[in-house]
Amino acid sequence: MVQNVAGMLTELEPEDFHLLSGIEQGMRFSEWVAREKIPEFSRLTAEEVDYRIDRCLDRELIERQTIQYEGYRLKFEGYDALALHTFAERESVEGFGSPLGVGKESDVYEVQSYKPLALKYHREGYTNFREVMKERDYTSDREHVSWFYTARKAAEREYEALETLYPDVKVPRPVDHNRHAIVMEKIDGVELSRTRLEDEQVVPILDLILSEMADAYAEGFVHADMSEYNVFVNTEGITIFDWPQATPTDHENADEFLERDVDNVVGYFRRKYPQLVPDSVHTQSLATALADGEFETVRDYASE
Ligand SMILES: Nc1ncnc2c1ncn2[C@@H]1O[C@H](COP(=O)(O)OP(=O)(O)OP(=O)(O)O)[C@@H](O)[C@H]1O
Ligand SMILES: [Mg+2]
Repeated sequence: MVQNVAGMLTELEPEDFHLLSGIEQGMRFSEWVAREKIPEFSRLTAEEVDYRIDRCLDRELIERQTIQYEGYRLKFEGYDALALHTFAERESVEGFGSPLGVGKESDVYEVQSYKPLALKYHREGYTNFREVMKERDYTSDREHVSWFYTARKAAEREYEALETLYPDVKVPRPVDHNRHAIVMEKIDGVELSRTRLEDEQVVPILDLILSEMADAYAEGFVHADMSEYNVFVNTEGITIFDWPQATPTDHENADEFLERDVDNVVGYFRRKYPQLVPDSVHTQSLATALADGEFETVRDYASE
């Protein structure tokens, strides 16, 4: 789907982007932007708007509703096109490649730049927009807040965490950020969930992950979504990715999230390598030690 957007980008004209960003502007005030307001938002003439709307509808970048009034809104593809266009203008992205991963709440693609990078489009608002709104004290007209607010917030949060953590913690190097998308270093490696570690690597890799979590805590963040799916393993070590849920350590639930993260990681190793990971690891004191900067090895937290 997004690959079409990438190919399409070359056929889109500057005025098409004016139309798309005009609709984006209008969506700050209402979910569906009335047709007669679009010329003002997009700074195009009414005739030009007519022509551009047809082009963007044909390419499925926008959609129309005609109940009560004729209105338009961006589809995710339109939002994707705007972000990609911005990256292209800034030269942080020069070419679009194949999918690297489709997560529950994102689409990740390889992109070309001075070297291959990864572009992650956040999709959060699509799936759990309502839940997120319940948690946030975002009080202005709820009706008008749409999925891309949530997706953009998630991207901002992830980018901020990466900027804070890199390079002290092993995370992908952040390169650029716009709207609901981030560009970052492409990590070569295999997700931990898909590896079968050599016996003598098991505890050292577990310790490595836990000590990166300790470093992240020292830099002010708890990952809050740690699992075997969010860790890459390669010959150089490990990389922890997927940080949109990153929670500042001064957040009231931070320590609870840290303990859950520790439980997830240790639990995974224990299930997969029962002979190698002591089954009596006390994850609560392990989490406390991580937070206090006193963690060395998981072996210290196993009772007899
Ligand atoms: N920097 C990167 N380099 C290479 N591949 C990546 C990178 N970031 C993400 N990926 C790939 O894309 C997939 C989805 O990414 P990520 O886990 O960040 O998104 P998600 O949608 O939040 O996932 P989840 O399903 O855990 O919610 C990953 O599993 C990974 O295979
Ligand atoms: Mg993930």
